[in-house]
Amino acid sequence: MRFLITAGPTREPIDPVRFLSNRSSGRMGYALAEAARDAGHEVVLVTGPVQLPEPPGVIVRRVETARQMYEAVESEIVHAEVAIFAAAVADYRPASIQAHKIKKAEPSLMLALERTEDILGSARGRFGFRGILVGFAAETERLIEHAQDKLTRKGCDLIIANDVSQPGIGFDSQENAVTLCLPGGQTVVMPQQEKSTLARSLIEFITSLGHLRP
Ligand code: CTP
Repeated sequence: MRFLITAGPTREPIDPVRFLSNRSSGRMGYALAEAARDAGHEVVLVTGPVQLPEPPGVIVRRVETARQMYEAVESEIVHAEVAIFAAAVADYRPASIQAHKIKKAEPSLMLALERTEDILGSARGRFGFRGILVGFAAETERLIEHAQDKLTRKGCDLIIANDVSQPGIGFDSQENAVTLCLPGGQTVVMPQQEKSTLARSLIEFITSLGHLRP
């Protein structure tokens, strides 16, 4: 099968030397790309800026901003049978990018932000994607409730939910523990383990979903 996987953070420029971003290391998305490749699948990885080597045998498309990630996904998703959105995409970006470095003049500074494109939320509608759609939900409270809501709103087959308030897992960590949320309210818990080990189980689980689809 052909997989499209997004990974890493996005960077939203403020001025020529500054940006808004987040703590995502990209490890979970890269581990998924490697696990899918190892299982014999073709993989396109759309990645924000990370400190990880490019996985051999994977087609890598590097992007910086949410808009660039949206455009890369829009052009790649038409070829994909499975799409996994593991990127930590910025939800907001500066409403305007200053042409010159902002100088410190005033004692406080207001930064106006605007919403970015919702890439996962565009998959079923705008992109017309009919394959297996997998999203992540990084939450600090009411994990399952938020994940189930995201699953329905975005037309996903699976949401991989992780509690980012727990130290040592999730964002910027080597390990992760997740709860899989499926349509109909079914959940499957995958306990804390190395992201590479978890990725192998996730790819196996995701490919098995293909048999359940009408
Ligand atoms: N995502 C995306 N594009 C965005 C924001 C998020 O594709 N602009 C994807 C992420 O890759 C992830 C999923 O959406 O798979 C969940 O992201 P999250 O920000 O937690 O969900 P939202 O639905 O935006 O909800 P909220 O921010 O209100 O929790």
